[in-house]
Amino acid sequence: MSKKQAQYQCRECACILPKWQGQCPDCKSWNSVEELPTIVGASQTNTNWHGKATTSSSILLSEVPVTDTPRFSSEISELDRVLGGGLVRGSVILLGGDPGIGKSTILLQCMAKISVSQNALYVTGEESPQQVSMRAQRLGLPNEHLKLLSSTCVEEIIAQTVINKPVVMVIDSIQTIYTNSLQSAAGSVSQIRESTAILVRLAKQSNIAIFLVGHVTKEGQLAGPRVLEHMVDTVLYFEGDSSTRYRVIRAVKNRFGAVNEIGIFAMTDEGIKQVSNPSAIFLSQHDKPVSGSIIMVSREGTRPILVEIQALVTESHSGHPRRISVGLEANRLAMLLAILQRHGGIPLYDQDVFINAVGGVRIAETGADLAVILAILSSYRDRPVSNRLLVFGEVGLSGEIRPVPNGEERLREAGKHGFETAIIPKANMPKRDSIKNMKLIPVNHLADTLDAL
Ligand code: TYD
Ligand code: MG
Repeated sequence: MSKKQAQYQCRECACILPKWQGQCPDCKSWNSVEELPTIVGASQTNTNWHGKATTSSSILLSEVPVTDTPRFSSEISELDRVLGGGLVRGSVILLGGDPGIGKSTILLQCMAKISVSQNALYVTGEESPQQVSMRAQRLGLPNEHLKLLSSTCVEEIIAQTVINKPVVMVIDSIQTIYTNSLQSAAGSVSQIRESTAILVRLAKQSNIAIFLVGHVTKEGQLAGPRVLEHMVDTVLYFEGDSSTRYRVIRAVKNRFGAVNEIGIFAMTDEGIKQVSNPSAIFLSQHDKPVSGSIIMVSREGTRPILVEIQALVTESHSGHPRRISVGLEANRLAMLLAILQRHGGIPLYDQDVFINAVGGVRIAETGADLAVILAILSSYRDRPVSNRLLVFGEVGLSGEIRPVPNGEERLREAGKHGFETAIIPKANMPKRDSIKNMKLIPVNHLADTLDAL
C-alpha cells in the first residue's frame, strides 16, 4: 500500500481532517475520527471500475429518449406504496431503522415472494444461512427459489450476481460489507461509502434493484455517515417502537416517487403483516373523555390518518421546566408554548410539558399544531375534551390559524369514524355543504379557538 499522506475522516459527519483529533470539530462527536487510507481506487471519483472511457456530448433535453420507468411489485402492497408504486429496476433503496425493528424480516418476506416469479438474491452478512432459512420456514415463506449468499465481500457479491443474474438483491446489512480495494475495517466510513458506491454502479450497469439495510444509531442517524443518503435513489426509514406492535416505513427521499409517503405494518408472530386500513390504529380508544387527549387527522403521504395527541402538564420543581415531545418536533412544541403564552394568555413557564403521538407514529406536518395546543390546554386545566371532537390546523407566530392541505378529505375521513364536531381553520371550510352529520367550527385566531372550546 502506497500511502502518500494520511488523511482523517469523521465517521459521523464524514468531514475530512488533516490530523487525528479526539473530537470532531464539525459535528462535535467524540472518538469518531479515523484514518482514511489514500490508496489508488479509494476515492469516489474512481472511474476505472468496469471502466469504459466514453466520450459524452451534450444533447437537447427534448431529445432525451423518455422511457417509462418499468416497475415490478415487491409483493407487499404497503411497501409498493412507499416506493411510489413498486420497485424500479436498477435503483438502490436504503432501508434504515433501529436494530430489531423488523428490517430483515420484511425484506425476507418480500424477497421470498418475489423469488416465485423472478430471480432474487438475499445476501446475508449478519445472520447465518441457517438462521435465515429457519426464519423463512417458521414464517411459512416459499423457499424453493430464493438464492441465499452468506458473504460480506463486495467483489464476491458481484461475482455471484454475474452467475445468478438477479433482478432484485438484498444486502443485509451495508455495515458488514467491505471491499478489497480498501484496507480499513468493515463498518468504517470509507468502507461503507466505497462499498455502496460499487453497489450503486452495479445496480445501474446490471439493472438490478438493490435493497441496502442500514442500522441507525441511538441518535437516530444511519450509522456511519449520512453520505449514503445522497448516493442511493430511495431512502426508507422504519419508525415505531420495538415494544409496540405497529411499524411505519417512511420514504424520506425517493427519486421515483413522493416523499413522506408511509406504509403501515404490524409485527406479529407470523412476521410482518401490512395494515390495509390504518386510519384508526393510532387512537387509544378511551370509553370516556380524558383530559389532555385530542384527536386530529394527519395526512401522511397520500392518505389521511386519525392520530391521538396526548399532553401532560404538571407543575415543575426544577429551574428548567421540561419540554418533552415524542413523535412530534421538539422545536415546534417550544414555539407553540410561546404562542400560547403570548396570544392565549396562558403562561406555562413553571410547568413541565410532555406531548406524545399515540402508537409510536411520527407526525411530520404542521397540521398537528392546533391539536397540540388544545391537548396542552386540556391537561393544564384538567378539563376533558369530548372524544367525538376533531381538530386540525397550523398555528402561526401571531396566533393566526392557517389552513392545511386537503382539509375536505380529512373531514370526510373523520366523518367515516363518527366524529361529530370539528374545529378547523376558516380557510379549510368546505365550499359546498359536502360534509354531512358534522358540526364544523371554523376558527381564524387562537383566541377564537379558546372561545369555541
Ligand atoms: P429483525 O427483522 O431481525 O430486525 P432487524 O433486521 O431490523 O434488526 O426482527 C427481529 C425482531 O422481530 C425480533 O425482536 C423478533 C421480532 N419478530 C417477531 O415478533 N415475529 C416474527 O415473526 C419475527 C420473524 C420477528
Ligand atoms: Mg437484521
